[in-house]
Parts: sequence; structure tokens; C-alpha cells
Amino acid sequence: MKSTAENTAQDQNLLGAYRHPTDRSAGQWAVSRSDRPQLYRIEHRLAGGEVHIDTVVDLDNLKSKLRKWRREGFVRHDAGAPDKPSANGSAFLRDLREGPPHAQHDAGKPGRTAAIGQVVMPLGAGGPLVPEENPAYLFAARSDDILRDVVENRRLLLIGHTGTGKTSLIEQIAAHTHQGVLRSNMNGQTTVGDFVGFWTVKGGETIWIDGVLPTAMREGLWLIVDEVDFAEPAILAVLTAVLEPGGRLLLKEKGNEIVAPHPSFRLFATANAVGSMGQYRHLYQGANVMNEAFLDRWRVYRIDYLSREDEAQVLRRTFGPRISEAMARTLASIAAECREAFMREDLAGAFSTRRLLDWTALMLRTKDPETAAGPTIYSKVSAEDARLIRSIIEHHIGVEE
Ligand SMILES: Nc1ncnc2c1ncn2[C@@H]1O[C@H](COP(=O)(O)OP(=O)(O)O)[C@@H](O)[C@H]1O
Ligand SMILES: [Mg+2]
Repeated sequence: MKSTAENTAQDQNLLGAYRHPTDRSAGQWAVSRSDRPQLYRIEHRLAGGEVHIDTVVDLDNLKSKLRKWRREGFVRHDAGAPDKPSANGSAFLRDLREGPPHAQHDAGKPGRTAAIGQVVMPLGAGGPLVPEENPAYLFAARSDDILRDVVENRRLLLIGHTGTGKTSLIEQIAAHTHQGVLRSNMNGQTTVGDFVGFWTVKGGETIWIDGVLPTAMREGLWLIVDEVDFAEPAILAVLTAVLEPGGRLLLKEKGNEIVAPHPSFRLFATANAVGSMGQYRHLYQGANVMNEAFLDRWRVYRIDYLSREDEAQVLRRTFGPRISEAMARTLASIAAECREAFMREDLAGAFSTRRLLDWTALMLRTKDPETAAGPTIYSKVSAEDARLIRSIIEHHIGVEE
């Protein structure tokens, strides 16, 4: 049972109370500020006043609770006058969006930070594993939530077609925050041994070699598990164990040694055909279906190709005065049209930003789009695809007389 003083302090932080308009036995849900930033306390009080649920949730969780209560017929009651319906139903959302006063302070933490767009990020320890900064890299608006999730130590799964910029987004965030990164591609020969570690004999002695996962966890590196939808089940099982923030790794092969995560450790994965990308699975031969329980352990972001405007801007940033605004726009349109053809299955392969940049670089040297497309595009695709891409290019650029 809570003391009156505690209840009063709780009530001062009250953001909203929800009741059923007719069913008194449904009790009351109360949402209040928690004493931890970004987290909200929810309580369920029964009709007799007894509190039988008292828990702390994050914003996403709270939003889904609000939706559930609404579905169940609960309506908001004014915090000051709990028996009357709310005079200002949007006050709760306003508090939520503007944030309770003490929730704003996380940007002011001591320590070295770097700002990427609107988001202040802590700096990593540096070192040889920090990816190289790409000065032409554009942090599109889509990155903001992802950046905040990195700060909050969320597990992030980026899904999207090949070449949309999933891996490079993580690498460029790491480059800007001086954070070392390890990458492990599941669409290849990555074994559980590579991932977790193995015993080997060196100089007559049997020694344990950490795999990428314990290495990243111990040393506070970021780990990108690329193309996780190709990972073998044994690797997924190990991964699942560390998906909870603070989740520890049990090295069974090493006498059940426990590896605790360094505070800077972050875990990312990328995939082509999972979740809402499932409709394109036929384009990615061999990709596995990921079950919902696995997906639920990640924040899953869909990364699409850059918009034509953003991609034209990346071209201008990459090649500077060597490329005109109109050229950049035309090239971005060609790429966009090839992608549309890929999604219609008229083309077998995707047209990545990397391919566009490479073609442009060679075109600026040869001064001939068609010649430049040979080694950068046509040689990499079937004759049939090359024909279609050539016709898209000619349609935009025109043919020389
Ligand atoms: N926002 C961006 N700004 C600049 N270049 C980008 C951007 N997004 C992607 N690229 C370019 O596209 C290439 C392909 O991206 P990548 O991250 O490898 O794709 P994915 O991992 O989705 O297959 C990168 O090497 C980079 O040069
Ligand atoms: Mg990638």
C-alpha cells in the first residue's frame, strides 16, 4: 500500500487518467512521468483504489497501450478533475510530444559528443576499426530516429533492397562518432566458429580465439550482422541471446564463460527480404523467413533508395563542380527508373547508389555514358538486362547522331 505522500507526488506527475465511461469495475489507468527520462509509469487502479499493475514503459510501448485502451472503450479524464471527461483531450499528446521538463536533458550529458543533424551522439574510443568518413554521405531525414535509437542502445535491423544504403548508414554514423565497427556477412561462409569463437592450437598450446560477437561485446565495438536473413539457425540462436540490451553471451564451448556487453557495444543487422520486404523474397534467392518473435526483438527500419533529389545531391557532393545540376538530376532519374524496372521484375538486378556513382565517375573520365556503362553496368548483368538499361539511358540522355 502506498503512503499518501507518495500518491501525491505521483499525482503531480500525472499526465492522464483513463476510465471506462460506464463500466466502473474496469478501474482506471493512470499515466505519469517516471523518474527516468524517456520512460513513463503506468498504473492500473481497481474500483476499490487498489493498484494491481504498476510498471514503467517507453514511448512506443505507451503509444500501443493508449491504442489498446481506446479500443477497449477507455476515455481520458482530466487529471485535475478525475470524474469529468477531459476538457482538453490533446494535453496528453502535447505533454508527450514536448516532453516533461526533465526529459529534455539527455543532450546535455557530460562527455565528448558529436552532432549528426539534430541528434547529439556520444563519441566512441576511436582506433583502427573506425570506418572512413565519406564526405559525400548524406544523412537523409530517415536517419534521425535511427540515430536516437543508437544512443538509446536499441537493437536495429535495417531492411531494404540491395544498395539502398543500409550498411553504409551504420558505417557513416560510426565514422562520425569515432566508433570502431566489425562486420560479419551471413551470405557467405560465416560459420558459428567465426561468429562465436573456436579453440585452436598455436605453438603447441590450445588457445581460444574469440569470434566477432564476443570481440565486439568485450571491446565496445559495433557489430553489423549483414544479410541476417541468410544466417544459419545456430548463429541466430546465439544472436537472440544478446538481443536484450545488456544481454550476456554464454560461451558454452569455453566452459560456459559469460561475456557481458561493454557499454559502447551496439548490434545492428541488415536484411533484404524480411518483414514488410517479404513480398520481394523471390528476388533474393535463399533468404530465410525470420519469425515474428525474432523480429520483435529489433527495431526494424525500412530503408528505401534515396529520393531522386537526395541522390542528385549525393552525386553533386561526390563530384563537385565536375557535374552540373541537370546532369545529376538526369542520372538520378535513370537510376530510379532502373529500380522501378527491378521491382516490376523486368530487371533481374537492383541498381545501387554505388553503381550509379561508379558509372558517373567513369563517364566523367571517358566523357561517354555508353562506354562508361560497359565495365560499370553492362558487364555485370545479362544481355537482356543490359538492353533494357541501355534503352532507359538512351531515353534520358539521347543518342549521338
Ligand atoms: N545517404 C547516402 N549518401 C551518400 N551515399 C550513399 C548514401 N546511401 C548509400 N550511398 C552509397 O550507396 C552505396 C551502397 O550502399 P550500401 O550501404 O552498401 O547498401 P546496402 O547495404 O543497402 O546494400 C554506398 O557505398 C554509398 O556509396
Ligand atoms: Mg549492405
